[in-house]
Amino acid sequence: KSIVILISGRGSNMEAIVRACASETWPARIAAVISNRPGAAGLAFAAQHGIATAVVDHKGFASREEFDAELQRVIDGYAPDLLVLAGFMRILTPAFTAHYAERMLNIHPSLLPAFTGLHTHARALEMGCKFVGATVHFVTAELDHGAIVAQAVVPVFAGDDEASLSARVLKLEHRMYPQAVRWFVEGKLSIADGVVGQLDGEA
Ligand code: GRF
Repeated sequence: KSIVILISGRGSNMEAIVRACASETWPARIAAVISNRPGAAGLAFAAQHGIATAVVDHKGFASREEFDAELQRVIDGYAPDLLVLAGFMRILTPAFTAHYAERMLNIHPSLLPAFTGLHTHARALEMGCKFVGATVHFVTAELDHGAIVAQAVVPVFAGDDEASLSARVLKLEHRMYPQAVRWFVEGKLSIADGVVGQLDGEA
């Protein structure tokens, strides 16, 4: 299976997936890492690991539709079976999400459906949440919705701030996102009525 990963910045989740794909025996390869920001730090890591990289700078396009159309053209040049969003900070058009329906994953740093959108950890702290977490989900036209593939939780400790909490959740993300991508490429995920089932029943 061929995987294309989209990033906008640091790319630590992309890095975790690249490392897991290389060190475990996945029936998959990372065909390309594509960023909408030319300066994304993750591009250097991908290039150093011999992965093709590309930039489609959203600033060069008059509309979301035009940007997404060009992004789709570049992505499809790598003929991916799976598109992985890893800190890709653009809202996607319905045409784009429809094109990759049931073959595009995202990770969101909250326990969806709670805290969609930005600043999830600050909002969870404000609410006095005792547990937070992360969610891997299939991407649909509605932001941070779509069938849930995996969720995991961490406790919130007294004295946590946004930085300490996001660091704890990010560590969790680095374990769960590669695992979820692996399930996909091994053909273990199925969607029925908008809900993901796992063919081997493992949680
Ligand atoms: C992660 O917290 C992810 O959940 C969110 O954006 C962040 C990306 O971090 N979607 P990185 O670029 O993978 O380091």
